[in-house]
Amino acid sequence: MRIVCIGGGPAGLYFALLIKQANPAHRVSVVERNRPYDTFGWGVVFSDATMDTMRAFDAKTADQIEVAFNHWDDIEVYIKGRRMRTTGHGFVGIGRKQLLNILQARCEEVGVELVFDREVESDEEFPDGDLIIASDGVNSKIRAKYAAAFRPNLIARPNRYIWLGTRKSYDAFTFDFRRTAHGWFQAHIYKFDQDTSTFIVETTEKTFLAHGLEQADQDDSIAFCEELFAEVLDGAKLMTNARHLRGSAWLNFSQLTCDQWSHFNGRSHVALMGDAAHTAHFAIGSGTKLALEDAIELSRQFRRLGDAAENIPAVLAAYQEIRTVEVMRLQNAARNAMEWFEVVGNRYADTLEPEQFMYSLLTRSQRISHENLRLRDKYWLENYERWFAARCGVSIDPDAPVVPPMFTPYTIRGVTLENRIVVSPMAMYSARDGVPNDFHLVHLGSRALGGAGLVYGEMTCVSADARITPGCLGLWNDEQAAAWKRIVDFVHQMTPAKAGLQLGHAGRKGSTRLAWEGIDQPLEADNWPLISASPVSYLSNGQMPREMTPDDFERVTADFVAAARRGADVGFDVLELHCAHGYLLSSFLSPLTNRRTDQYGGSHRNRARYPIEVFLAIRAVWPQDRPISVRLSCHDWAEGGNTPEDAAIFARLFKEAGADLVDCSSGQVWNNDRPVYGRLYQTPFADKIRNEVGIATVAVGAISEADHVNSIIAAGRADLCAVARPHLADPAWTLHEAAKIGSRSVPWPKQYLAARTQYETNLARDAAARPKSPAP
Ligand SMILES: Cc1cc2nc3c(=O)[nH]c(=O)nc-3n(C[C@H](O)[C@H](O)[C@H](O)COP(=O)(O)OP(=O)(O)OC[C@H]3O[C@@H](n4cnc5c(N)ncnc54)[C@H](O)[C@@H]3O)c2cc1C
Ligand SMILES: Cc1cc2nc3c(=O)[nH]c(=O)nc-3n(C[C@H](O)[C@H](O)[C@H](O)COP(=O)(O)O)c2cc1C
Repeated sequence: MRIVCIGGGPAGLYFALLIKQANPAHRVSVVERNRPYDTFGWGVVFSDATMDTMRAFDAKTADQIEVAFNHWDDIEVYIKGRRMRTTGHGFVGIGRKQLLNILQARCEEVGVELVFDREVESDEEFPDGDLIIASDGVNSKIRAKYAAAFRPNLIARPNRYIWLGTRKSYDAFTFDFRRTAHGWFQAHIYKFDQDTSTFIVETTEKTFLAHGLEQADQDDSIAFCEELFAEVLDGAKLMTNARHLRGSAWLNFSQLTCDQWSHFNGRSHVALMGDAAHTAHFAIGSGTKLALEDAIELSRQFRRLGDAAENIPAVLAAYQEIRTVEVMRLQNAARNAMEWFEVVGNRYADTLEPEQFMYSLLTRSQRISHENLRLRDKYWLENYERWFAARCGVSIDPDAPVVPPMFTPYTIRGVTLENRIVVSPMAMYSARDGVPNDFHLVHLGSRALGGAGLVYGEMTCVSADARITPGCLGLWNDEQAAAWKRIVDFVHQMTPAKAGLQLGHAGRKGSTRLAWEGIDQPLEADNWPLISASPVSYLSNGQMPREMTPDDFERVTADFVAAARRGADVGFDVLELHCAHGYLLSSFLSPLTNRRTDQYGGSHRNRARYPIEVFLAIRAVWPQDRPISVRLSCHDWAEGGNTPEDAAIFARLFKEAGADLVDCSSGQVWNNDRPVYGRLYQTPFADKIRNEVGIATVAVGAISEADHVNSIIAAGRADLCAVARPHLADPAWTLHEAAKIGSRSVPWPKQYLAARTQYETNLARDAAARPKSPAP
């Protein structure tokens, strides 16, 4: 085959080398616009795992790279006058120039033709090419030419960065955060040869502009950074090797994905590789790894399917299919890390104490969890756990096991929860006339025995016509209150858990069947009329609600107040106002369902007006020493709907009104919503609201292990974690998760104590029998 790689970065060179080595009969060229020893950038880092894969394909290159590698384990963080260090993180770094030189020399050895100093304008300059690799980097001309086929999605990210170097050797991957009069800057610093380190400086666009860096040339920028980072530089100078860039040399990172990775131009197959196909932010340093792994996968597919021209279409299809999955996985982690750095100044650096800030930094990609940190640096993590527990008022006994973050107590107003686990409200559709019965006693009672700090009953309706279904619970009469009291008394007398009441009104989602008879479907008979912010039905075949009138406002507020009063008398410890999931109060908040033109529609303040009126009315009758939480849909996941930015505005309004907690759920407001599910998928909303608005939050959604909860609580992403479906599967979820992480910080009910040791022993036996997997 005749193969041409346009662009001699890591992707183009490594693929040329592998394919030529696999079959010397191929004619392979790499065409690069730079001269052999010219390149941008300084050092790159990648992992031991990448090296293992490279060794399997070309041991000689891997050996040469390994000799040139600088390996280090520590991460050091400078912030607010503190300098903190942790170990066990395992990076390898190499100069970009050195990496390219090794690859160039290996290419020449195996007979790849290297052409330097030639700017390629079009793939058609190589009409004899069977396969043309567009390995021409993130600004790929070839990708741009066939944009209609490749369908690239290129997003310029808001932060500015400048990639510099310094002749100073750092023995740790170093992060330095500095506050200026206009905002925060951070430096990412890592050594790549005996005496040189990469020094990337990053800041927000706002801070960049406020410092006039748009007008600064490279020397001015260097002088600015040298002064700002004088402490960590300790007399060393910063250098640029991007003199070819015009202007300030402060760039915006471009985040790239492509729908298609190959295209037939009529004569040759053109395939994207490396940064031309995808990018991953330098926050997790994986761009070079991805480029090299693309090259490996394409050559692997030629090996598997046959390296003849007629197999190219099948090879390229397999290449794209396999690589897109891995690339997406890495891009997700890179996106989390990148977004962390985009908001780090206001959200974390200003608000978190240095210890917690460092924990947040280490877990920024959400791929490194609490238990991963323990594997990396047990000593550091246990110290952090001790620090965290002490912050939560736990007395520290150096001889006793430390209390994990999830099992530290949490006090809001006069209520102290024993731990951070909440049984999330879950409708059971098992009541008649809204009255709790034996099912509810056993259901909620067993979950309270299961170790959670707070157990919510399901959405409890404030009137008969506020119910979702005829099976929903209520609190609008004394019979219901008496039945609730039996449950709440059980929780208080038999368990250390606190009892939570979620009050709600179904609004336009009311008068429907029990979940297992057709969720959200109107009743077959005996429907009751619905009210909502505006006449917008939930389902196309659903009942149309009536727009609420002033009389409705008055009646519904009175119903909430009466229910809150009864709830206080019953003895509930925490009250939650349900303003999520498209129910009545939520229908005011979302612009999709609130079309009003009066003072209850339009701006955020207007849309929040009625929910806040209700909040203030219940706050006035709810005991002062007991907290009120507000559940919000923090993302409507629908065009034109609320986003986390809107949720933060509402959270601020509720905070001003006196709310103690925001329970951060999402969706279910609009029938055609498209949530992006995944592990901890709503936790970013709790994080944003907690750390930007400054109110305690509850994270909820796909939190299913102790490790998740510990990571969230320890990083300060939320104050409590609500766990719903796992509690349906296992009423004693909290006790079992404690045992799985070897913690005895949660007491088992005395009646069940006989089972604990056997349970722990069986877990330990199962764990010992499982093959050990390395930390990701
Ligand atoms: C600040 C910063 C820090 C980074 N840190 C890391 C890190 O720590 N670890 C890591 O793995 N990655 C890092 N990267 C990313 C990494 O540099 C890239 O992901 C990697 O180089 C991609 O390799 P590539 O071969 O696809 O593209 P490139 O390395 O960009 O190579 C493309 C080549 O094509 C050439 N070219 C372009 N157009 C033409 C043309 N028309 N004709 C001829 N030649 C052309 C270019 O001159 C260049 O040599 C970082 C990137 C940035 C910006
Ligand atoms: C059966 C069931 C009923 C639910 N009922 C309610 C409810 O009454 N009120 C509410 O706010 N959320 C309700 N939810 C949502 C949960 O509280 C929780 O937010 C959601 O299930 C995500 O958490 P998970 O991933 O831990 O299940 C319900 C969820 C389930 C599975």
